[in-house]
Amino acid sequence: MSYETIAVNPIGPVIGAEIGRVDLSQPLGNQAFQEIHDALLEHQVVFFRDQEMTLEEHKAFGRRFGELHIHPAAPSPDGHPEILTIHADENSKRAQGARWHTDVSCDEEPPMGSILHLHRVPSPGGDTMFSSMYAAYDALSEEMKTFLAGLKAWHSSEHVHKGRYGHMGKLRDGDDTYPKALQPIVRTHPVTGRKALYVNCAFTTHIEGLKKTESDAILHMLYAHIDTPEFHCRFDWRDNSVAFWDNRCTQHRALWDYFPQTRHGFRVTVKGDRPF
Ligand code: SIN
Repeated sequence: MSYETIAVNPIGPVIGAEIGRVDLSQPLGNQAFQEIHDALLEHQVVFFRDQEMTLEEHKAFGRRFGELHIHPAAPSPDGHPEILTIHADENSKRAQGARWHTDVSCDEEPPMGSILHLHRVPSPGGDTMFSSMYAAYDALSEEMKTFLAGLKAWHSSEHVHKGRYGHMGKLRDGDDTYPKALQPIVRTHPVTGRKALYVNCAFTTHIEGLKKTESDAILHMLYAHIDTPEFHCRFDWRDNSVAFWDNRCTQHRALWDYFPQTRHGFRVTVKGDRPF
């Protein structure tokens, strides 16, 4: 793929590229928008350095890619329900996103992408790892692909969000119901048409139709497979870096190896389609 307005430098052979020559605080022209969109499809996660964005500019950048998603349970800065605060410091008992996951896969229509802008990062530490679910799917045997085709798994949020965010009386939908959804184990990316694994150890609870022992064994095998380093890239944050990942074909985990230092920023999440 060739790019005219932006510079795209892969950070690994399988997944991840750094994008230069763009200021995300400014309205994106159609050509720059299309090239960032194409780079995201090609590299699955893209990174930007030295971006100063207000919350409004961050939301405006996200809205170029679609309607913004509102998280069912996570806290937001006042007046910005579409923004999720990412924060850990010396008082934290846990850090968000520390296990492999794709965002909010418990929603029937999970987000297509997430855009994380970290304003303050620890040094050293605090990297985010990304795993390509295309590469994970492609590396399975033909027999395992055939076995998984057509299987679905439940993704639930109560066990993830209740302990982390407390039960504050009202969730996003106002009726106090933690979202859960039945998702295909192998999904087809709606734009690229490529197949990707779609189970993760944070939200996925069991495979529909299998006995618990069978489901646990298959899921544990897939989680170990997703952890294969050859499917990964790792982003070394600096203050004011941005990561934009495609939730339809990646998973990520944020490393909490920097306690008691502070890591702080905001995430905007773009709505997606029902997986098929
Ligand atoms: C997340 O899961 O959105 C958090 C990722 C990170 O903090 O690097």
